[in-house]
Amino acid sequence: MIKMQHPEFETWYDGPHGSAGVSCADCHMPYTRMDGKKKVSSHHWHSPLKDIETACRQCHADKDADYLKSRVEYTQKKTFGQLLKAQESSVRAHEAVRLADEFRGVRAADYDALMLKARENVRKGQFYWDFVSAENSVGFHNPAKALDTLLLSVEASNAAVDAAMQATGGGIGKALAGDVKNVVPPVRKHSRKLQQSAAHLASHPWLKYLPQLPASEQVWDGQTWVGKAPEPDF
Ligand code: HEC
Ligand code: HEC
Repeated sequence: MIKMQHPEFETWYDGPHGSAGVSCADCHMPYTRMDGKKKVSSHHWHSPLKDIETACRQCHADKDADYLKSRVEYTQKKTFGQLLKAQESSVRAHEAVRLADEFRGVRAADYDALMLKARENVRKGQFYWDFVSAENSVGFHNPAKALDTLLLSVEASNAAVDAAMQATGGGIGKALAGDVKNVVPPVRKHSRKLQQSAAHLASHPWLKYLPQLPASEQVWDGQTWVGKAPEPDF
């Protein structure tokens, strides 16, 4: 897998603002007056929506703050909705490859080539999903590119499922069908403590790849220290 590292620049540069020459600093470090006199760039790097007057209305003086905010939120809502769908397709693609790896029925003659194709597309699907997921404006920096990238992600994930299906002559179809949330384990419930239990590791096909950890005292509950020894001073 390839980890995207916050592609704000790569998203912004050919979007509506980047292509028009509006820089990061124009929105994120707008000019403010110190003591009502000296003009300086704001160094509070936070959401421009906290101060739409200086961040946006320096250029969009003809629009009011509520309208501008609503346009940002409209894009973010649409982008986030499609992000969740691309995410589900990517999870299904991962599971298709796992199922095809484990498949013991009759494999296609070109099984290996098809599985190579499936794995490449899983990687692509996850990469394009992460391009939007790791970008911090939830689509606003470039709405068209965000949605296009998510569609590329879904296409790649679907191509992975398709290749894995062909590799197994459709043999994995039944196990892969239905709501993807029922196909994958409840990851959020998993913990180091549960990984010490054989019954937990037997409760879902994915968990059988994990080694059982030796029984040991639980020392953290979320962010809270619950160990018997004093909390370590980091
Ligand atoms: C046209 C104005 C504009 C430009 C130009 C712009 N941004 Fe943003 N940026 C925003 C808005 C609006 C958000 C969404 C804030 C929110 O959701 O609260 C945002 C969100 C972010 C965030 C997340 C901040 C947070 O507190 O949620 C980061 C980081 C960021 N932008 C970096 C950049 C970088 C780096 C560039 C240049 C490559 C850039 N932005 C260009 C308006 C802009
Ligand atoms: C330095 C000037 C400048 C700043 C600051 C700026 N914009 Fe823009 N904005 C533009 C330009 C230029 C365009 C391109 C369209 C145009 O020429 O009117 C644009 C376009 C837009 C569009 C239409 C985008 C589309 O998809 O066509 C929206 C929505 C928008 N801006 C919102 C914002 C918001 C919200 C902020 C503050 C976070 C902001 N802008 C800050 C100059 C600016």
